[in-house]
Amino acid sequence: MLKLIGLVGTNSKRSTNRQLLQYMQKHFADKAAIELVEIKDIPLFNKPADKKLPTIVMEIAEKIKAADGVIIGTPEYDHSIPASLMSALAWLSYGIYPMINKPVMITGASYGTLGSSRAQLQLRQILDAPELKASVMPGSEFLLSHSLQAFDKEGNLIDLDTIQKLDALFNDFRLFVKITEKLSSAQELLHKEAENFDWENL
Ligand SMILES: Cc1cc2nc3c(=O)[nH]c(=O)nc-3n(C[C@H](O)[C@H](O)[C@H](O)COP(=O)(O)O)c2cc1C
Repeated sequence: MLKLIGLVGTNSKRSTNRQLLQYMQKHFADKAAIELVEIKDIPLFNKPADKKLPTIVMEIAEKIKAADGVIIGTPEYDHSIPASLMSALAWLSYGIYPMINKPVMITGASYGTLGSSRAQLQLRQILDAPELKASVMPGSEFLLSHSLQAFDKEGNLIDLDTIQKLDALFNDFRLFVKITEKLSSAQELLHKEAENFDWENL
């Protein structure tokens, strides 16, 4: 079965983005094993000179490496991804390269109508950085607007059109994971490029 990581892109205890990933975990249980991974205990990125990474970062990196793909659920604060998510991604690109060529699906939930669209766009740009270089599924925004009202008491999405869209995008993502596996010609090269890349010696 497809093994996916659902990266909860927030350090907030109460999060509709986490709720959405929990719903996906349950709703798609027959199609994929989705393990939710929290970033809330990762310390703020501080670029240690010895490149010694916190244990929790190494553990998350190993989980990502072993997975077929990653779903990142991002809130939007002031038109940006949360600082906690940015910090986690900085760690995950500091001398380690778990995201390279990793198939990624982005989801986002927000209280308003715009449903994290700006944060999602920004996240795509970040994931294209030299040491992240993830393979983000193109043309596939899943925006959950008015997210506080979107779930019932059991944590299920209420709106049928929204569920249909999520189903369709997730089906495409499963296919995208398979296609990305086949795009392997440049993989070794990309890894080498990332390993040799050094922001301090450009
Ligand atoms: C400081 C702050 C800034 C916010 N900025 C935005 C924003 O730019 N766009 C947006 O859609 N929602 C914004 N929101 C509302 C968020 O959608 C909401 O707080 C939350 O992050 C949704 O995700 P969550 O339920 O996973 O925490 C903001 C909320 C806060 C507290």
